[in-house]
Amino acid sequence: MSSNKLATLANKRILLGMTGGIAAYKCAELTRILIKAGAEVRVVMTKAAMEFITPLTMQALSGNRVHHELLDADAEAGMGHIELARWPDLVLVAPASADFLARLAGGHAGDLLTTLLLASKAPVALAPAMNQGMWLNAATQNNLLTLQTRGYTLLGPDSGSQACGDTGPGRMLEPAALAEACASLFSPGWLTGLRIMITAGPTREAIDPVRYISNHSSGKMGYALAAEAAAAGARVSLISGPVNLTVPEGVQVVQVVTAREMLDACLAGIDAQDVFVGVAAVADYRPAEVVSHKIKKTTDTLQLSLVRNPDIIGTLAARSPRPLMVGFAAETDNVEAYGEDKLTRKRLDLLFANEATTTFGSDAICATALWHGTEPHQIMSNVLGPAGKSLVARQMLSLIHTRWLAAQQ
Ligand code: PMT
Repeated sequence: MSSNKLATLANKRILLGMTGGIAAYKCAELTRILIKAGAEVRVVMTKAAMEFITPLTMQALSGNRVHHELLDADAEAGMGHIELARWPDLVLVAPASADFLARLAGGHAGDLLTTLLLASKAPVALAPAMNQGMWLNAATQNNLLTLQTRGYTLLGPDSGSQACGDTGPGRMLEPAALAEACASLFSPGWLTGLRIMITAGPTREAIDPVRYISNHSSGKMGYALAAEAAAAGARVSLISGPVNLTVPEGVQVVQVVTAREMLDACLAGIDAQDVFVGVAAVADYRPAEVVSHKIKKTTDTLQLSLVRNPDIIGTLAARSPRPLMVGFAAETDNVEAYGEDKLTRKRLDLLFANEATTTFGSDAICATALWHGTEPHQIMSNVLGPAGKSLVARQMLSLIHTRWLAAQQ
């Protein structure tokens, strides 16, 4: 890890909220790294956290008294809980246990940490740590979605062997990766430096000079992702089919018409990308021949011979090295099952499956995020929306960022 990746931590006030989990021991090293990078750290521990590591250790490392009681006359005489809630530039909850996430999602205020989070206006990052079964449980996933929708940032978790002997997702990110992720939250945008290529809109395949084959994609979803990614500091390269939309500020655009032009534009820039997101509704077939003049209505029927277009995302995913590959799937039926099939068949890292007829052209979307778990044939899922495409785009980018961080481990 290069030290300049932590430069934004200098003089930042970080409130480290620790909840109960074996990963609490990693907070000792995390605190040391944060302080070395110039941050000021104050620690709040739940009762469960203190079963795993002592407040004395965290006090020695942070150089500040550790807070753990909501109703503590001595502490209130020093820095009271409301003052503490106003103090940080960032609240980092690490480890964030399943129980804590459930209480936070439920708006509880039964202990010092949940109370502080309700009162604080500071940005909040959560570093989950739990058994893989607890992580995969629908209750936990729903709580996370609620929290992400409220604007909480998810850092991790990582996947691998766990203290309980299981293997799977749920390990807290290592201290160095966590410190780096916190540092990136203080950059002008949380995706600063990330290079994302996004395809959007339909493609058009000419039949003759005045007619073409296409579909109902408006480009709204792809453009919403491009706008939100650029606003978060990513370097966005948008490969756009023909749409009636304004190119978002800060986005580099390449305008194309056909699937083959889209593939060429993607190939020209793919080596410089960290993430590829295929939102475009690419025409799967094109006329075998483009008639050079306008076809006249001289017959009752007209036979068109079509040939397959290249599979853009499939072609890019087959390359090595390759960026994180994110696809979409628009289906009219069996949305999730077809989505899972495309995730696997096209060798993607993440896919958003949505119902086609209600999403094309609409300002809203409901999409199921699908990605591979650590067990063979295991597929994870998370439902985003229904909500406006901009809000869902932010949730999608948060998931993309989480998958990208995990892939860097
Ligand atoms: O543009 P909007 O009106 O906002 O609508 C949004 C949307 C419905 C277009 C979007 O949410 C969506 O679902 N996009 C993918 C549409 C699609 O073509 O899905 P598909 O199942 O045919 O393709 C699966 C994946 O392969 C997609 O990532 C697609 O970009 C990619 N693909 C498909 C065919 C092809 N020849 N090359 C590809 O890269």
